[in-house]
Amino acid sequence: MRIVLVGPPGAGKGTQAAYLAKNLSIPHISTGDLFRANISQGTPLGKKAKEYIDAGELVPDEVTIGMARDRMSQPDAGSGFLLDGFPRNVAQAEALDEALREDGAALDAVLDLEVPEDEVVKRIAGRRICRNDSAHVFHVTYNPPRTEGVCDVCGGELYQRADDSEETVRKRLEVYHTQTEPIVDYYRGQGLVVTISALGKVGDVTERAMSALGRDA
Ligand code: AP5
Ligand code: ZN
Repeated sequence: MRIVLVGPPGAGKGTQAAYLAKNLSIPHISTGDLFRANISQGTPLGKKAKEYIDAGELVPDEVTIGMARDRMSQPDAGSGFLLDGFPRNVAQAEALDEALREDGAALDAVLDLEVPEDEVVKRIAGRRICRNDSAHVFHVTYNPPRTEGVCDVCGGELYQRADDSEETVRKRLEVYHTQTEPIVDYYRGQGLVVTISALGKVGDVTERAMSALGRDA
C-alpha cells in the first residue's frame, strides 16, 4: 500500500505511523525524521534544513523533494510506504504524483488526522523523544515514561525538540493552514482522502485508521 499521512503538527502522525507501518508491513518514511537525522550527523543537507526547521518554516522544495525521492527509491519502499510529513504543499504533491507515474504506481489513500488546535498545542508541549530512535515518542502526561527523562524501550535519553517552543509551534500551525491544508483538497479531487478523528487513546486511533484503510486492526 502507498499511503500519505496528513495532519497538523502534534496530531500524532509519527505515533500512528509507527503502528500502521508495522501492521501494514511497509516502511515509515518521515521527512521530519530524515531532516533531524541529517542535522544530528552534521551533513550539508542538515545544515541547510536546520535554519528553516528552527524557524518553523518549510525546508525549500528543491532540497525536500530530492531527499524524499531518494528515500522512496530504496529497495524496502518498492511495493509500498507510509509517508509522514511529505508532501507538505501542492508543489510537493505534484512532484510525488509525477514520481509515482514514472514508476507506474499510484497512491492508495491519504489519511487525514483531525485534531482541535488546543489539543495539538498540549501534545507538542509535553512531547519527549528518544535520542537513539525518533520512533520512541512519549508525552509527560498522556504517555509518560516509567522513569522521567529515560526511554522505556531502549534506555536512551529523552529530549524536547528545538522547534517545539510555543513561538515556533504557532508558526508551524500557520504554515500548516496556509501551505499544507490545500493538499487535502488536491487529493480530495483524486478521491483519495479518508478523514478520521485523532482524539482518544493511541490504540483507538490506530483501529480507526486501519478500518478507514479497509484493514482489520
Ligand atoms: P515534522 O517532524 O514532520 O513535524 P510536524 O508535522 O510538525 O509533526 P510533529 O512531528 O510535530 O507531530 P506528529 O503529528 O508526528 O505527532 P507525534 O506523533 O509526535 O516536521 C518538522 C519540520 O521539518 C517542519 O516544521 C519543517 O520545517 C520540516 N519539514 C518536514 N517535512 C517537510 C516537507 N515535506 N517539506 C518542507 N519541510 C519539511 O505526537 C505528538 C505528541 O502527542 C507526542 O508526545 C505523543 O506521545 C502524543 N500523542 C500522540 N497521539 C496521542 C493521543 N492519541 N493521545 C494523547 N497523546 C498523544
Ligand atoms: Zn529509545
